[in-house]
Amino acid sequence: MWLWAAGGGGGGRRPDPPPPPPTSHKTQSNEITDDFAPHSELYERSARGRGRGRGRGGSAREAMRGTAVVITGATDGIGRHTAARLAAAGARVLLHGRTLEKAADCAERLSAELGPGLLHPLEPVGGDLSSVAGALEVARQVEGAGGCDVLVNNAGVFSGGPRRESGDGLELTWAVNVLAPFVLTQKLLASGSVRQHVVNVASISASGDFPWDDLQLERGYTDHRAYSLSKLASIAFTLGLARRLEGSPVTTNCLDPGTVDTKMLRAGWSCGGIPVSAADDEYWLVRDAVSGGDSFSGLYFVGRRLTSPPLAAGDPESQDRLWAVLEEQARRYRPGPA
Ligand SMILES: NC(=O)c1ccc[n+]([C@@H]2O[C@H](COP(=O)([O-])OP(=O)(O)OC[C@H]3O[C@@H](n4cnc5c(N)ncnc54)[C@H](OP(=O)(O)O)[C@@H]3O)[C@@H](O)[C@H]2O)c1
Repeated sequence: MWLWAAGGGGGGRRPDPPPPPPTSHKTQSNEITDDFAPHSELYERSARGRGRGRGRGGSAREAMRGTAVVITGATDGIGRHTAARLAAAGARVLLHGRTLEKAADCAERLSAELGPGLLHPLEPVGGDLSSVAGALEVARQVEGAGGCDVLVNNAGVFSGGPRRESGDGLELTWAVNVLAPFVLTQKLLASGSVRQHVVNVASISASGDFPWDDLQLERGYTDHRAYSLSKLASIAFTLGLARRLEGSPVTTNCLDPGTVDTKMLRAGWSCGGIPVSAADDEYWLVRDAVSGGDSFSGLYFVGRRLTSPPLAAGDPESQDRLWAVLEEQARRYRPGPA
């Protein structure tokens, strides 16, 4: 049985007090610059506080070399930029797209943009994350590539307009933003194919409470409500996962990646965002985990600052209830005999 058993874990963990503001980072190139300082103070405090300190030591750049990172939704927007930064820093990047062809095409273009100095060729991985079967297919390919050290669940959708359903019959935003990361993460964890850290990409749009009797928003659907709910679930999933992973070598955190000028932002919000070329927060969180910050887990970052999760996401009972729903959906929509 690849699904993890519900329950376990040692109860909710209060985050440390917020660290000081991060240093500015205005780099437009893929070069790692000194002003892109790792989140060392938070790492120091949390490592000392918890006495785990499982970092690899050495510089961030050294730590990144050869680290295998899967990034979902890396054919566009923030995911593509994060893949580029990680590859330029020496990571082995498994670049996911909704089809293998799309991922391969993006990997080729990105390699050309980054030039000949890459330590590892970008490796394409394909699968439509709107179905459980698609998420399992992505997991199969990652396992076939030897697994990864870090999984970044970045792929996401803002499904503008009327309510749409996935092939599995779930509300589309829920299927892509919530169930797919759960299935992919669980499958990879169960086969030992994510060894160090899971990053879930949430959003400051996360708000409200869980409508437990109507999580598929069959009543009162709006595109923004579906998106906010999905990101609330991303945070709750991360915090629930962190509790379940206590005592294991794997940690997990989530973040808002910034308000970034991507096709998703343009589709759903009239406000402008920072250019994609400056959207480094996902890269920052991966780099921090790899370079030693992996001793902190179950935290939510906004603008690289430790932030209190929305109340409903921080509630362990809600986290467990969500977990049970996702386990049930993962089982129900899993291909093959029931
Ligand atoms: N942009 C912002 O301001 C902002 C703010 C907060 C959080 N976020 C989060 O950041 C993440 C990245 O968003 P973005 O702004 O970079 O959006 P984006 O430019 O639209 O990129 C989204 C990525 O996810 C992929 N994707 C969507 N549906 C998929 C599916 N069914 N199967 C496989 N891949 C799928 C997209 O592939 P296609 O190109 O093929 O559709 C694309 O590669 C998302 O989780 C988003 O919710 C973004």
